[in-house]
Amino acid sequence: MHKTDSNIIAPRQRASTFCRLYGNFFFKNFRSPKYLSLRPLRITVRHPGMTKKRILITGAAGFLGSHLSDRFLAEGYQVIGMDNLLTGSLDNIEHLFKEKDFEYYHHDVTKFIHIPGKLDYILHFASPASPIDYLQMPIQTLKVGAHGTHNCLGLAKEKGARILVASTSEVYGDPLVHPQTEEYWGNVNPVGPRGVYDEAKRFLEAITMAYHNYHGVETRIIRIFNTYGPRMRVNDGRVLPAFFSQAIRGEGLTVFGDGSQTRSFCYVDDLVEGIYRLLLSDYHLPVNIGNPSEITVMQFAHEVLELVQNPKAYIDYRPLPVDDPKQRRPDITKAQTLLGWNPKFDRATGLKLTYEYFKTVVRVG
Ligand SMILES: NC(=O)c1ccc[n+]([C@@H]2O[C@H](COP(=O)([O-])OP(=O)(O)OC[C@H]3O[C@@H](n4cnc5c(N)ncnc54)[C@H](O)[C@@H]3O)[C@@H](O)[C@H]2O)c1
Repeated sequence: MHKTDSNIIAPRQRASTFCRLYGNFFFKNFRSPKYLSLRPLRITVRHPGMTKKRILITGAAGFLGSHLSDRFLAEGYQVIGMDNLLTGSLDNIEHLFKEKDFEYYHHDVTKFIHIPGKLDYILHFASPASPIDYLQMPIQTLKVGAHGTHNCLGLAKEKGARILVASTSEVYGDPLVHPQTEEYWGNVNPVGPRGVYDEAKRFLEAITMAYHNYHGVETRIIRIFNTYGPRMRVNDGRVLPAFFSQAIRGEGLTVFGDGSQTRSFCYVDDLVEGIYRLLLSDYHLPVNIGNPSEITVMQFAHEVLELVQNPKAYIDYRPLPVDDPKQRRPDITKAQTLLGWNPKFDRATGLKLTYEYFKTVVRVG
């Protein structure tokens, strides 16, 4: 499973022999305080195959992780995809196995993570993400947010890698401030059913800041607002796959409450661009990425009905779930000013592209 490159090992062995031979000499002679502030000596050994940046993407077989793997390969990175297929599928990354710069590790990130060789970046995206998933897997959700993030941060520290962690608009809970800026601390019910996800992500942010402040690890935190696009799981319980599959099958589109609650939907390519820019930026505090174009769930249902044109489909009203947020819209001023980022895909374009995908995966009858 792990690739080993003899070209990489030889210089590393030479470096370690050097350290063994001369380490004691340096320790004995240069440990006085005046030398302690000196930056550590770095010897860079260049040879073919080591020039490409190497990135670990956790949750690579999921919706976002698979698109991120595509993007970083296209940018010329060596990508290590890691997943335990809890909610993801190898179908999402099957096309990548033929790429020489792609490796896949089947691994649960809540267990210790070992990656041989150098590592420049980590994108930590492993986590159940849809309400159906995290309500069914509350303990795994908390563990991946806590132990999984801790392991990824430990790896970043060990390798000297920069890490970007995937947080969420759910850290704002059912917000009392609208639209949500990064300075808003949120309105989360820790003991409600959604608390397992919201609090896991709040812990993820807290431990990431601790590693930044205490260990000096280079960290980035993204707060992702509802994102959609090809490779979303048909039955993951999120509103968009639910609406598309119900409309294609000619069933009722489930609208909770009276459908007046709002959401903002960001097309996946826009999000990936935002993640790419944030990773390469020098900003370590949380940044919202999402599309501020707000729509009620009811309007959204009608847009899907319009696109799919299935005369059998209709709106099916259901009671509002506990702690369902009433309003969601990101304030993206920070992403605009710090990253020069703006969403490019309007909803009509994004929905058409997504519909093309769902037509191929939704089974009718
Ligand atoms: N899609 C969105 O709109 C959205 C919004 C906010 C935040 N996020 C965050 O982005 C990340 C990815 O979300 P997604 O929509 O792609 O979800 P997804 O379920 O499609 O992908 C998550 C992936 O993580 C993997 N995974 C889960 N637990 C794991 C573990 N312990 N070890 C290894 N792999 C594990 C799953 O198998 C899956 O492939 C999540 O962290 C989520 O919280 C997504």
